[in-house]
Order: sequence, then C-alpha cells, then structure tokens
Amino acid sequence: MNKRFLLSLILLAFISIAMIQKNKLDQGTKTQPIKTIMQRLMMDMQTIEVGIWNENYETIWSGAENIVNHPKIPVEQRKEISSILGDEMKAFVAFDKQVHNHADSLAKDAINQNMEEILKHYSIIQQGCVSCHGNFRTKIIEGR
Ligand code: HEC
Repeated sequence: MNKRFLLSLILLAFISIAMIQKNKLDQGTKTQPIKTIMQRLMMDMQTIEVGIWNENYETIWSGAENIVNHPKIPVEQRKEISSILGDEMKAFVAFDKQVHNHADSLAKDAINQNMEEILKHYSIIQQGCVSCHGNFRTKIIEGR
C-alpha cells in the first residue's frame, strides 16, 4: 500500500467521523411537539418488541437508539409544562431520565446480544413511560 493511498484513507475516515458527529449534533438540537415525540416513542417501543420476538438485535438496537436520541420539547412547551407542574417538574424530568438511561443500557444490551438484560431494561423503560403518564398526563393536558 503506498503512502498516498494510506493518507487518503485516513483523511476519508476523519471526514466520515466528522459527518457522523455533525449528524448527531443536528439530532440533538432538533425539537418536536411533545405529542409527536410521544407517538414516535410508542413506535420505538414497538420496534424493540418486534426485535425481541424475532431475536433481531439490530432492530432492538435501532429502537433503543431512537429513544435515546429523541428530539427535545420546544422551549415554549417546556416552559408551559413547568408552569403547570411547578415543583413537580423535577419528578417529571426524573421519569424522562429513567426512560433515557435505560434505553441507553438497552442499546448496549442489544450490542451484547443479552436478551435477559434487554427484557429487564425494556420493563423499566415501560414503567417510566406509564408512571409519567399516570402522574402527569391528565394534569398537563387539563392545565393548558
Ligand atoms: C416525562 C413524562 C413522560 C414520559 C417519560 C413518557 N411520556 Fe408519553 N406522554 C407524556 C405526556 C405529558 C403526554 C400528553 C401529551 C399531549 O397530549 O400533548 C404523553 C402522551 C403519550 C402518548 C399519546 C400521544 C397522543 O397521540 O395523544 C403516547 C402514545 C405516549 N405518551 C407514549 C409514551 C411512551 C411509549 C413512553 C416511553 C418510551 C412515554 N410516552 C414516556 C409524558 C411522558
């Protein structure tokens, strides 16, 4: 392999990494109304389940990654929710964290093809979704 070729390969690798990072950044700053985020979260949970039944770890991983990288709520909507919930906003954020952290673990479990851990984290995510709904959904919808 000559030096020039090797150098262009390295350069290409750097460019790809930079592009992937930029993509991640773009995703991170994207916002969507909470209702849209929720409808997508539901689809992501379904994707994970499809992966579980078919023992397709890539499918499981992609559903979990989508949850981890879900868009943020627009600032205005966040303010609205915060003013409706007051001090309870902390608990609301904690449920979101629970979903995030365990989706992150689930993505790693998928890479390790560890079905037992996948099921464990899936269940904790589900509890996070349902607990937040049980505690806050009606309050937020009626408080608008
Ligand atoms: C931190 C709180 C919180 C968490 C965590 C949460 N949700 Fe929600 N969810 C809400 C709120 C608030 C609404 C009501 C949104 C609205 O009607 O504007 C909602 C609504 C929904 C809806 C109904 C959307 C519609 O069309 O009316 C679905 C489906 C849903 N969530 C799925 C999920 C799933 C799946 C998860 C977990 C992966 C999850 N949610 C986690 C707060 C949460």
